[in-house]
Amino acid sequence: MSNDRFLRALRREPVDCTPVWIMRQAGRYLPEYRATRARAGSFVKLCKTPELACEVTLQPLARYPLDAAILFSDILTIPDAMGLGLSVDEGVGPRLARPLRTREDIANLAVPDPDTDLRYVTDAVRLIRKELAGKVPLIGFAGSPWTLACYMIEGQGSDNFARAKALAWDEPATMHMLLDVVARSVARYLAAQAAAGAQALMIFDTWGGLLAPDLFAEFSLRYLAQIVQSLKADSATKDVPVILFSKGANSHLEELADTGCAALGLDWTIGLGNARMRVGDSVALQGNLDPAVLHASPQAIRNEVRKALHSFGPYPGHVFNLGHGITPDVDPEQLGVLIDAVHDLSAKK
Ligand code: CP3
Repeated sequence: MSNDRFLRALRREPVDCTPVWIMRQAGRYLPEYRATRARAGSFVKLCKTPELACEVTLQPLARYPLDAAILFSDILTIPDAMGLGLSVDEGVGPRLARPLRTREDIANLAVPDPDTDLRYVTDAVRLIRKELAGKVPLIGFAGSPWTLACYMIEGQGSDNFARAKALAWDEPATMHMLLDVVARSVARYLAAQAAAGAQALMIFDTWGGLLAPDLFAEFSLRYLAQIVQSLKADSATKDVPVILFSKGANSHLEELADTGCAALGLDWTIGLGNARMRVGDSVALQGNLDPAVLHASPQAIRNEVRKALHSFGPYPGHVFNLGHGITPDVDPEQLGVLIDAVHDLSAKK
C-alpha cells in the first residue's frame, strides 16, 4: 500500500505524520456529491448502486490528500435488510417505514445474509478497493446495536429516543432479544465487509451517550464488546482493527478500551491528552475537533489543529478526525486547510 499511515497509527506504530480522514467526508458539503445523488434519484438509491457508491466514496480523495477512504453507505442498511424499509428525504432525515411496535415484531427479526440481502454493500467494497488500487486503506462500518435499536423502535431520529429507553426499562428481556439479533447481524455484516476488502472497521454508537451509566453498560457496551470479541475470535477478521465511537460516552472510555478494540473515536467534549492519560497506550485514539471549527478562519483552524496535536503529544496512535460528521454548510476550501494543517504541523522533521 502506498499510504499506510492510517493502519500504522491504528496499530500504534510510528508514522511520518498524523493520518487524517473525516467523518461524512463524502457528503452534502461537496457539490460533486450533490450532483451524483441527484443523478441517483435518492440517497437510498445512491447507497444501493455500487458504481455510484464507489464514485462518491472516491470524491473527497480526489480533492484532498486524505489518508483513508470510508465506504459510502449508511448505518440503517441493516434495519432495511431486516425488512423495516429505509428512506432518507432532504430536510426529514432517515425514516423507517415499518418501525418495531410489538414484541412479536422483534421476535420475528432474522439476521440478514450479507452476501445476498446486503450484496450491494459488499459489491461496493470490492469495487472501491479495485478503484483505490492500494492508494489508501478502506474503512467499512456499521451502527452499534443500541443506536440501530433506537431507530428501529422510533422509526426516525429523535432528541432523546424515549421510546427505545422506555422499552429497556419496561421490558428489558425484549430489548435484549432485539439487541442480540442486531449484534449478530452487525458482526456478520462487518465480517462480510472485511472479507470483501475493508481494511479497518468502525462501529458508530452515535446514541450511546444518551444512556445513564448502568444502562450504557447493559444495553450498549455489552453488545459492542460482543461484536469485537466475535470478530477477534474469527481467524479471517482477528487482525482487522476495530474503531469504536460511542458519542457522548466519555465517562466510559476505560470500559470501551477494554473491549479489545484497536481504537476509540472521541467527540470534542474531552481533550485528547486527557483521554490518552485515561486509556494509556492500550488503544489508538481518533478525533476530535468540533466540526464547527470549519466555520472559523483558516488561522483559527490551523491553531485548533496545532492544539489538538499538542494535546495528544509525541506518541504513536493518533488518527486525526473531527469529533462528529462534517456538516452540509461547510465550505470545501476550509476542509482543505484543516487537512493540510494536520500533515504539515505533525510532520516529523
Ligand atoms: O462518513 C462517510 O463519509 C460515510 C458515509 C456515512 C453516511 N452515514 C452517509 C450519509 C456514514 C458513516 C453514516 C453513518 C450514520 N448514519 C450514522 C452514524 C454517524 C453519525 O453521524 O453519528 C447515523 C446516526 C446515520 C443515520 C443517518 N443517515 C442520519 C442521521 C442521516 C443524516 C440526516 C440529515 O439529513 O442530515 C443520514 C443520511 C446520510 N447518511 C447522509 C449521508 C451523506 C445525508 C443524506 C443525503 O445525502 O441527503
